[in-house]
Parts: sequence; structure tokens; C-alpha cells
Amino acid sequence: MGRFASTVEFYTRYREPYPQEFFRAAAERLGLDGDEALLDVGCGPGPLAIGFAPFVATCTALDPEPGMIDVAKAAAERARAHLSFRLGRIEDFPGGESFDVVTIGRALHWLDRQSAPEVLERIVSSVGRILVCRSGSVEAPASPWLKSYQEVCRSWSDDPDRKHYRLEAAEWFAGSQFHKIDSISVTETHRVSVQDLVGRALSKSNTSPAVVGDRQAEFAAEIRKTLEPFLQNGVLQEKIEAAAVIFGR
Ligand SMILES: C[S@@+](CC[C@H](N)C(=O)[O-])C[C@H]1O[C@@H](n2cnc3c(N)ncnc32)[C@H](O)[C@@H]1O
Repeated sequence: MGRFASTVEFYTRYREPYPQEFFRAAAERLGLDGDEALLDVGCGPGPLAIGFAPFVATCTALDPEPGMIDVAKAAAERARAHLSFRLGRIEDFPGGESFDVVTIGRALHWLDRQSAPEVLERIVSSVGRILVCRSGSVEAPASPWLKSYQEVCRSWSDDPDRKHYRLEAAEWFAGSQFHKIDSISVTETHRVSVQDLVGRALSKSNTSPAVVGDRQAEFAAEIRKTLEPFLQNGVLQEKIEAAAVIFGR
């Protein structure tokens, strides 16, 4: 079972979304004209592939987790997005295909740094771009709950120092043909419920159902208790930042 297998159900519903404006802004910055071939590496439930699909000619979504591919297929159908799906790891991606855009959302740190850059060098066209994307909650006056929530999650994590996430994208690509050429960032404020934030915690690989095990109810209760004092009319405000670092040759 992959590290993400037990998160599938929660990931789809509760992970921080990429705002619509993020896709529009990225498409404009890249000058997409609808002729491009895009590959989304580590698609998970497909938020990037679905969001970028209207801006390109073909959109392929790749993930080694069968459960993720299943929910991505269902989400694409609901969104009427035309995607192709591949089950597998980027490190094993076959030769012979070329992509103008490769997106890697919240997944770069899971890829093998020895072999994945070589594969990207082979499949990204000479003028192609790689977008390393993320979306997450950021501190803001409107979200005084965030620090306390993160502390609880950290105390339950099997990777509390976030060793897996430390490497900057530019460092990851060091020694490859790719270098950072641009970046974009889009913010959006929205409302979240306590249930959303319990589900989000369970969507993360370091506090997944597989990690918290039979203490899931206790974990959820601790999150609820922590967030309760911050509730306003039963909900919380949250500022989301979606960002992409753009790499090219
Ligand atoms: C945190 S999810 C990101 C999902 C989505 N891209 C997003 O931005 O929300 C990371 C995904 O990367 C996938 N993954 C892990 N190792 C991979 C690899 N070697 N090649 C391709 N995908 C991989 C996992 O199965 C998981 O679905």
C-alpha cells in the first residue's frame, strides 16, 4: 500500500483547493494557446489536471496510487474535463512522448531525485515548462486559528520536522537542465468548517488514517477542541495561497 492510499477519501474532499484564478493566471503567464500537451505528475485526485485541461489540447494525469486515479477519473467526469490517465511513477515513464507543460503539485518531494530529473529532461520539449505547484493555508489576521491547528497536527505527525518537505524546488532541480525562470502566486479567502479541517488533517500523509491508526477519533476530538474557541457563527475564515514555481531550460 502506498503512503497515500489511506488518504484518498479525505484528500478529494478536504485538501486546500487551487483557486480558479490560479489556473487563469498561470495559463496567461505561460502564454498557453490551447495547442499544448500537458502531463500532471502525481495527479492525486486531479485538481491540477482538471484545472488546466481547458487551457491545453491534451492533458495526461499520472499517479502510482490506483485509488487516486479512480477518484481523479470520477472528478474529471463531474467537471467534464477530458483527461487521459496513466497508473505509474514518473521515474518509470516510457520514452517517445513529449510534453509542453509538466505540472507537479505537492508531489516533488516524493519523486526520486536521481532518476526523475532525467525522465523530465527526456519528456519535456526543448521550450517546455515545468510548474512546481502548491496550495496551502497561510497566516493572516482572519485566521488566528491556524498556528494552533498546525501545532496539533505536528504533535500527531510521523514526520514532525517535515523532513520530506524541506527541499526547495530550485535545489531539487540543481544539476539538471532546468532552472527557475518565473513564479506566480494567487490568494483567496474562504470559509472552512471544523469538519473540513479534521478531514484535511487526515488527507495529509504524515497524519493519515494509516499514521494515526485506531486513535483517529481522539485526533479528531483534539482538533475540534483546539478550533472551537476560534469559531465565528460556526465557521472559520482561511486565506489560501496557490503558487507555482516555473522551470525551463
Ligand atoms: C500530495 S498528492 C498531490 C496531488 C495533487 N497533485 C495536488 O496538487 O493536490 C501527491 C501524489 O503524488 C503521488 N506520487 C508519489 N510518488 C510518485 C511518483 N514517483 N511518481 C508520480 N506520482 C507520485 C502520490 O500517489 C500522490 O497521489
